[in-house]
Amino acid sequence: MRRKKALIVYYTQTGQLKSIIDSVCNFLQEEFDFTYEELKPTPAFPFPWPDMTFYQVFPESVQEIPCKLEVFSFDPEENFDLVILAYQPWYLSPSIPFTAFLQTKAAAKVLKGKPVITILGSRNMWIMAQERVKKRIIDMGGNLIGNIVLTDRHHNLVSVVTIVRWMLKGEKHGGGLYGKLFPPSGISEKDISEAEKYGFLIRDAIKHNALEGLQDALIVKGAIKINPVLMTVEKRGFMMFRGWSKFVLKKGGAGDLRREGRLKMFRIYLFTVIYLVSPIGGVVIWLNHKLNYRKSQKMVNYYSHNENT
Ligand SMILES: Cc1cc2nc3c(=O)[nH]c(=O)nc-3n(C[C@H](O)[C@H](O)[C@H](O)COP(=O)(O)O)c2cc1C
Repeated sequence: MRRKKALIVYYTQTGQLKSIIDSVCNFLQEEFDFTYEELKPTPAFPFPWPDMTFYQVFPESVQEIPCKLEVFSFDPEENFDLVILAYQPWYLSPSIPFTAFLQTKAAAKVLKGKPVITILGSRNMWIMAQERVKKRIIDMGGNLIGNIVLTDRHHNLVSVVTIVRWMLKGEKHGGGLYGKLFPPSGISEKDISEAEKYGFLIRDAIKHNALEGLQDALIVKGAIKINPVLMTVEKRGFMMFRGWSKFVLKKGGAGDLRREGRLKMFRIYLFTVIYLVSPIGGVVIWLNHKLNYRKSQKMVNYYSHNENT
């Protein structure tokens, strides 16, 4: 019998997402031969990010404005049995290299009529990114059968501090007093290694052609964990991001230095909201979820699945 073929498309700066892919794919190797396509933006995005460059990518991320990518090495005409798309959110949006991939003819060609699985490695806010990714996959005729999301499970206010340090300084775990006060940034090693259990489910679903039930099986095993308060904070934040990104783009396109003034204003806004508004707002949102429990659970259920309405 012919061995099945899977295409894995991904982008990663720190290697975190590749570790997640390797873990999920552990059990899939029995069934599949893999073709890996690592997306390579030209020019590359820096890591660690020199201060303002981290904010310079904000408008393009939110507005899904693509960057240039190096020519792909996979053949879009090849008949893959499964396509795995692995990405990370940037500013509540799909990262720019991944956005760029989704807007290519090669993506449209290779996804059409194929079972697709998305894997996300994020801090903790990914819902608004995935909504747009879902839509693009469905519009291209892909059959999104599974979504797996790994997050940093520390408190929101803690993971903001640690991710900014990781991204801007390249230090996953700082030393001295900082190292005593704060945990390492990113997704825990334990969560990454345990992600192989999802591969087991994918392998069985494909083997027995039981694709429809896959997402529910993944959810039962913990592939999606939605905190309703963060979900609402993210939805509101995204509405504001839309306005801010348009405001910055009026000053110029990607990398234009004339945008710095507005980006600095955005940076102040961002940290004020995270540290001053969101703790108080969070209590109100939490109460609201308790009072409207059924409505809130309906939303959690929708974002845990792969339909796009
Ligand atoms: C510019 C930028 C913006 C980010 N914005 C978000 C975000 O909105 N939500 C989130 O959960 N994580 C966010 N992150 C964290 C990434 O999703 C990801 O976890 C991190 O970059 C490590 O991924 P990688 O090394 O595999 O690329 C952001 C990272 C970067 C570099």
